This record gives sequence, C-alpha cells and structure tokens, in this order.
Amino acid sequence: MKPRDLTAGFANGAESFDRLFAALWSPIGAATVKAAGLRPGAHVLDACCGSGASAIPAADRVAPHGTVDAVDLAEPLLHLGRARAAARGLGTVRFAPGDVLDWPAPRGGYDAVVCSLGIFFFPDMAAGTERLSRLLRPGGRLTATIWARGAVEPLPELIFRSVLPERPELAEASRPANPLEPIGTAESFRDWLTARSLSFVEVERYPLALPRDPDLLWSLVLGTAFRGLLDGLPAAAVERVRERFTASLLEGGRDPIDFSTLVGTGALRRVAPRRHAGGTRRFPTAIEPIGPMPHIS
Ligand SMILES: C[S@@+](CC[C@H](N)C(=O)[O-])C[C@H]1O[C@@H](n2cnc3c(N)ncnc32)[C@H](O)[C@@H]1O
Repeated sequence: MKPRDLTAGFANGAESFDRLFAALWSPIGAATVKAAGLRPGAHVLDACCGSGASAIPAADRVAPHGTVDAVDLAEPLLHLGRARAAARGLGTVRFAPGDVLDWPAPRGGYDAVVCSLGIFFFPDMAAGTERLSRLLRPGGRLTATIWARGAVEPLPELIFRSVLPERPELAEASRPANPLEPIGTAESFRDWLTARSLSFVEVERYPLALPRDPDLLWSLVLGTAFRGLLDGLPAAAVERVRERFTASLLEGGRDPIDFSTLVGTGALRRVAPRRHAGGTRRFPTAIEPIGPMPHIS
C-alpha cells in the first residue's frame, strides 16, 4: 500500500484530526521538540508534520535565523499549520506538501529531523526511517516519536467491531500486523533506532491519557487512518458505527485511554577521517559516532 492510500484519512478528515490538537497532538509534539534539543539557528525538517504540533514549537526554538521545513502528504492539514504559524507571527516555518520519503536533503544536510507519530505509516518503517536519517548532516539528530506498547488500546478493536456489521467482508480479511509491536518498549525502540545508523540514542516515555469522551475519540476515527474503514458507507451506516463505538467505549468502564508515547533521539554516525598510511592526508572511510548534543529544555 502506498503512503498516500494509508494517509488519505488525514487529508479527508483534517477538521476532525485538528479537534484533537490541544488534547493529543500538541503535547506530544512539544515533548518531541523538547527531546530534539533544537538550538536557535538550526535547520530542521519536520517529517509528517500534520497541522503543526511539533513544527510550531520547533519554529519557535530555532528563531530568529533557523528554519523548519514542515512536510506532509495531507494538504488540508498544512493549511491549518500555516494558519497557526501566521497567528503566532512565525516566519521560520514553511509548510510544504510532499512525501517525506522523496524529500531531498538541503546542501550539507539538516541539523535535525523530527518525526512525531509518522514513521509507522511508512510502507517499510526501517527503510523510511533510514531515509530520514540520510537527510541529516553528519552529527545531526533524528527524533522520532511512536506510540508506546499498549497505547491507544482498545480503540482499534472497538472501531473494528463497530464497523463489522456494516462491512461483514472484513471478518475474512487479514488484519495487518502492528509494525510498532516489536519496538513498543523504551529498550527495544532504543536498539531499533541504533540500528538505523544513529548513536547515543536516548528514549523517554511521555505519559499521556485522555478521558473516554466519545465525541473526542470519534474525531480520532474520522481524522486518522481509521477513517478508511468508513470509506463508501452511507451516512446512516456511519451513524450506526458511531453509536456502536460510543456504546462499547462507555461499556468498557471509566478508565482513561492511554496515549503514552516513546520519544527517541540519536545522532547520525558520521564519516570518520582516517590517517593515510604514507602521510598525513586523511580519508573518510569509516562511520564513527560523535558525542550527544546537550539537551536544551
Ligand atoms: C498521526 S499524524 C501525525 C501528524 C503530526 N506529526 C502530529 O503529531 O500532529 C501522521 C501524519 O503523517 C503523514 N504522513 C504519513 N506518511 C507520510 C509520508 N510518506 N510523507 C509525508 N507525510 C506522511 C500523514 O499525512 C499524517 O498527517
């Protein structure tokens, strides 16, 4: 499946997506930017930027001379991001449509790439993340945020069961494996990022929970990839899905829904100069790690 197929829900449901901005996307985006340790003057790529949850605080951090290229496939989300930046008078961020897997590196590479809740949409998560790290200058930092193990549960199952009576054929369809399952702990995510050409990887868990508010959580169905399950259903059927979803959410008790994330950051291993056997000339022949950048909070 192409990224565009999987992410159509974000473009078609931009308004619903943005209803979760204050409660969900913005706090996670802020945690991502804090972990990235951006400095004033840095040149940053925000990959899969959505409506600006991390791009806006990143643009604040790098001001006045830095830049943030904020890239997403979903143009309606970029409009919302631009409006947010304009409202804050931020001239350091540029929202641009595009597939980050084709996005070119600027001359010399970015100082930092951040990707909050985006890498698990790549058709090949490992190859896509490596592609992002290749957009960095040597020593530049990649910060990627994913859902922690158990987060968002039991919503996918509740949504699926609410849709099933309208789409009985789904019962036979094979359910795609969750790409985050093997890397949902801080330790496994750290090892996984280290295998993506990164050094000095640090992973922090950012705890977050939202109440079982059916209206708010229905926005998650309408504004994200879950929306694809409703494609082509008549309005009355969508309403029945919503009623079942609401009922099952409330039947499940009063406990809030966990939306905790893992925020991982590491530095690109750089090409190390090596002394030429016959003299003092140095050749870049090996990859060696450089030290971690101090965090600025
Ligand atoms: C869960 S949203 C997160 C958005 C934003 N980072 C935030 O935290 O609010 C995932 C976003 O990734 C975008 N996306 C997924 N794959 C992409 C790709 N290959 N290129 C650009 N954007 C992509 C989707 O369009 C969607 O806006």
